[in-house]
Amino acid sequence: MENPLEAWRDTLLELGVMGLVREPSPVVQEPSLRAPSVVPPPRHAEDRPAPRLAASLPPAYVPPSDAIGCPRPASVAAATDLAGLQQAIQGCLACPLGPGRMKFVFGEGDPGARLMFVGEGPGRDEDLQGRPFVGKAGELLDKMVGAIGLKREETYIANIVKCRPPDNRAPTPEEARACLGYLHRQIELVCPAVIVTLGATPLRELVGVGEGITRVRGQWKRVKVGGREIPVMPTFHPAYVLRQYTQDIRRAVWEDLKAAKEWADRPVPPETRP
Ligand code: URA
Repeated sequence: MENPLEAWRDTLLELGVMGLVREPSPVVQEPSLRAPSVVPPPRHAEDRPAPRLAASLPPAYVPPSDAIGCPRPASVAAATDLAGLQQAIQGCLACPLGPGRMKFVFGEGDPGARLMFVGEGPGRDEDLQGRPFVGKAGELLDKMVGAIGLKREETYIANIVKCRPPDNRAPTPEEARACLGYLHRQIELVCPAVIVTLGATPLRELVGVGEGITRVRGQWKRVKVGGREIPVMPTFHPAYVLRQYTQDIRRAVWEDLKAAKEWADRPVPPETRP
């Protein structure tokens, strides 16, 4: 029997159609399966197409150069109280989080607190209200603080970054670095006896400990800020506790906070008072 394709070709030839044009295939092949390109490379640089990689990357963020959008370390160091520090940095646009924020979340609490919490960064509720830990995780933090016999306002609460990372992602190391000088000055001014880090991000970015939080929670660390060594108690982030609401996890956090409070309650030797 005659091959139907050959018959069709013969008919086209008889009709005087001298070539067949292949329809472009709608199927996009994987790059590795594509036939090697037979297009010779251009001989002159000006013939070469512009590199496509650069075109597909988002443009790098360029921070403003003025002292309001990009506060100078000298003005941060010159702040002698928390209100002055907030004034100096609240217009910050030094990293890409700045332009996306609703509100700058400086931190709040007793300016002379013995116990300071450091979280990761503002979420949606914090971004709207300009206050740290006011959403669901904040409600749990308040309860956890109450469980060790303190009120939230007797502590000081801050974050690694002061502007909300989009989609509640963790801040990048670059974003954390851009904000770290502000947090250091804040810690110097509060001068807490103990810092409790909430979750892996503050432990990594403030204390330099990159181990998993499950391994290191409850183990004392220390951080040097402004020439002073401060004991650090790493514990779970309240958002994690909400997700893993088991008695073991809640008990672990309670033990960590209790240890931190016991340290904070120790009498201050006169020579270490600021
Ligand atoms: N999570 C944080 O790490 N910080 C906040 O302020 C709120 C939620």
